[in-house]
Amino acid sequence: MNQTGARLPGPPSDFRFVGAGPAGQGLDRYDRLRQDHSVVRVEEPQGSYWVVLKRELIRSCLQDPATFSSSAITPLNPDPPVAMIPIQLDPPEHRPWRHLLAGYFSPKRMAALRPRLERGCQELIDSIAGRDRCDFVKEFATRFPTVVFLELVGLPSSELDTFLTWEHDILRPGVDGTFDVGRYLSGVAAVRGYFTEVLAERRASGRRGDDLIGQALTWELDGEPVPDEALLNCLFLLFLAGLDTVTNTLAFALYHLATHAENRRQAAQVARAGLPMGDIVEELLRYYAIPEVARKVTRDVDIDGHRFRAGDMVLFPLVSANRDREGLEEAERVRFDRDRPPVHFAFGAGPHRCLGSHLAREELAVALGAWHRRLPDYRLDPDVAVIETWGAVHGLDSLPLLFTRKERG
Ligand code: HEM
Repeated sequence: MNQTGARLPGPPSDFRFVGAGPAGQGLDRYDRLRQDHSVVRVEEPQGSYWVVLKRELIRSCLQDPATFSSSAITPLNPDPPVAMIPIQLDPPEHRPWRHLLAGYFSPKRMAALRPRLERGCQELIDSIAGRDRCDFVKEFATRFPTVVFLELVGLPSSELDTFLTWEHDILRPGVDGTFDVGRYLSGVAAVRGYFTEVLAERRASGRRGDDLIGQALTWELDGEPVPDEALLNCLFLLFLAGLDTVTNTLAFALYHLATHAENRRQAAQVARAGLPMGDIVEELLRYYAIPEVARKVTRDVDIDGHRFRAGDMVLFPLVSANRDREGLEEAERVRFDRDRPPVHFAFGAGPHRCLGSHLAREELAVALGAWHRRLPDYRLDPDVAVIETWGAVHGLDSLPLLFTRKERG
């Protein structure tokens, strides 16, 4: 009930923050809700929260960190025991961290990685191109950004499979739509334990290097070295933020192109002509915006006629902002022929806007270009269901693709 005693508008009672279903179902569910509501209230067995659905409301709330705090960023966990850095810090504490990290992920530095990214893609595509099928998620989308991440951070690529297992344990619900808390906690402990050892070993050896861990060991805040506990909370966030996001955006991009022949032909044409893939990347990022960010309300506030109380949790599905027709003509479909790339919120809005967006864009452009130059034609294996899982990030568990002999490059 609201202040006047009227029933609050709500989504179907089976709406769940964490779940699984046929590919597209998790992202598409907001299209229906947004037709009737700008804001809804969700009651789940584990807790209640608001969901904001309209583009301008989402943008303005995310740009108001004094009212919408990042101290809690998943709607069913309003009092997290540990703050990931910098994503769970509000201004002004957030600012110096942002400054430390921004230099490392600058557009110039990320653009310089391009030859290395091209090489990494080619190696993976070489291992796939001679066959008549592949699982794009397992064989390409999870491996490519993880190898890049290991190099940037300064970890050996021999750890790839271990990192992929931890990543899966921490971030993914099962294909039955349930989340295994025990698996999550042991994954978190393993990653933190690993980074603790790496920091200790780097200090002991005196080896600094140009990688992120080397840089982090020199960081200072207010003239003091950054304590290890804070460094761990930052490295842990980078592990979460940098891997699954690129993996899942790539997975949805190829899912879309495998099921939309005209868009696939357009992408292949651009790639084969050696033209930049940037506009295609932006449109796919917009339409398949996979993160769902949340905030904790710090003071009572009215949002489009709904009274949010201090302490309430609010979910902002970025995909809902991006597909809102009030922000963009034909927002409900993918169009590679727009006059200009769409302004979108796949990377968030406000002070926490993604620090890795330049890296993510490079990775996506290189991957889509290299893939379509070599393997321009592919389709979904009709015998295998593609399952989407969702929570803080939407993803595809696997993406079975078929190539015919003629289609192989
Ligand atoms: C397609 C890929 C990606 C998407 C869609 C994405 C999306 C986002 C979003 C929506 C946020 C804001 C979260 C919030 O407001 O609570 C964010 C923050 C962040 N992202 Fe990304 N991200 C991607 C890739 C990456 C990569 C590759 C890295 C780095 C390795 C990265 C590092 C970060 C960091 C450090 C933050 C926190 C920034 C802050 O709190 O100031 N992201 N990302």
